[in-house]
Amino acid sequence: MVELRDRWQSRGSFLLGAIGSAVGLGNLWRFPYVAYKNGGGAFLVPYFVALLTAGIPLLILEYSLGAKMQGSAPKALGKVRSKWEFVGWWALVVGMIISMYYVSIMGMSWDYLFSSFKSVMPWGTSAETAEKFFNEKVLNLSSGPFDIKDIAWGVFIGAIITWVWIFLVIFKGVKNVGRVVLITVPLPWLMLVVLTIRGLTLEGASTGINYYLAPQWEKLFDPSAWLAAYGQIFFSLSLGFGIMIAYASYMSKTSDTTNNAFITAFANSGTEYLAGFSVFSILGYFAVSINADVASVVKGGPGLAFVVYPAALAKLGDIAGWMAPFFSICFFITLITLGIDSAFSIVEAFAAGLEDKFGWGKTKTSAILCVLGLLGSLWFSTTAGLYWLDITDHWISDCFGLAIIGLLECILIGWLWKASKFRQEINSFSDIRIGRWWDICIKFITPAVLIWLLITNIWELIEKPYGGYCSLALFLGGWMVALMAPVIGIILTIIKPKNPRWKMEEG
Ligand code: TRP
Repeated sequence: MVELRDRWQSRGSFLLGAIGSAVGLGNLWRFPYVAYKNGGGAFLVPYFVALLTAGIPLLILEYSLGAKMQGSAPKALGKVRSKWEFVGWWALVVGMIISMYYVSIMGMSWDYLFSSFKSVMPWGTSAETAEKFFNEKVLNLSSGPFDIKDIAWGVFIGAIITWVWIFLVIFKGVKNVGRVVLITVPLPWLMLVVLTIRGLTLEGASTGINYYLAPQWEKLFDPSAWLAAYGQIFFSLSLGFGIMIAYASYMSKTSDTTNNAFITAFANSGTEYLAGFSVFSILGYFAVSINADVASVVKGGPGLAFVVYPAALAKLGDIAGWMAPFFSICFFITLITLGIDSAFSIVEAFAAGLEDKFGWGKTKTSAILCVLGLLGSLWFSTTAGLYWLDITDHWISDCFGLAIIGLLECILIGWLWKASKFRQEINSFSDIRIGRWWDICIKFITPAVLIWLLITNIWELIEKPYGGYCSLALFLGGWMVALMAPVIGIILTIIKPKNPRWKMEEG
């Protein structure tokens, strides 16, 4: 009995899905800020080097692995070396933990979206009032990570909406995902274009853009700028989470993975670059209109998306009353639609793993994961949620997630399987033939950078365990969260269903 694997309806829907997964909140609130901090226009040099020497090679690797093995991360890695199955699960668990806080951030975006349907924006037109609104009204932020007073209901309701949405997108299989991404991928793009046009035609825009792109060439000699470039590329392309492996496994064995990797990578980078214009032009306008220096208003992360940028949008009300609500609505729709495809891609990847191993249907696996995800998001939607979000992000994404898993992938394919052998197979299906440079990237450059990234980040954790609210309990808590993923990975590997699906398919 041969069961046919679920399939995308076309190569286009696969590409949109993969681009949607890569293009996320990180493109908007991480890239522009990282670029500005690490050399402005000069940052593009380490950025493109990172893209070509690590991002694209690893993306080709993940796509090819998924397509060749016709399986999710644990299945694909397990087929190369059976002991490596746990690495796949580990990747999926890390991604799942990230999705829990990612969804609570989307919950905040929903809360803001609902607050935008007013003639005057409730967060006010200054960074101070907006900060007060965010901490007191939206988050009801408590005094520290262990002080959980209540649930921030607005955020949690947004998280519930998001998890229900994720379930509805993925439970029918990947064909339905293909239909959804036709809207959720172009929509944020369109919104970004609207925001950018608005931004660039404002007074002060050029001052802002100047901060974004004025090159500081001396940064090229600063190793931390290079590290930031590699970190941004890995995170932004959603590498090392098993997502791209699962998505590619719904393509045929002979699909052109190299070409797909280039398309995904360039679409993702283009979106980041564009997002920088919408961020900095409007921040430039804001700084000029309140007579401040752009540097004093620039922020990344939640501080950008929920404090400074909304304040700047509210300030547009000075020009015409309708602009503040209109552009705020555009902006929060952008955040939500940017986030949703990244969020459901990891849940889909995990569901694929469970389906591959245990033979359960998509409906069952999606339901289990969405309920677990919602419980996790509940934690990040409490009044102490923002602290936990910071801690988890720091421990999981920076150190124990993609860096280790990316490294293991390189070792497995580059050294145990042999990069040159793998490359020949990839080349037999592709329009673009990759040369020996790929072997060098996978065997040496990418692992070296990942080891460097890992050592630097772990060193930072040990040296100054955690910024403002460090305590021994938190330090141990951080390790616990970090170790949870490989432990769950091992447990899932050890459990053996009676008739594992992936053995059956081979027979
Ligand atoms: N690529 C996403 C972004 O740029 C972030 C991301 C990476 C992510 N891996 C993930 C989000 C796993 C959710 C789950 O924002």
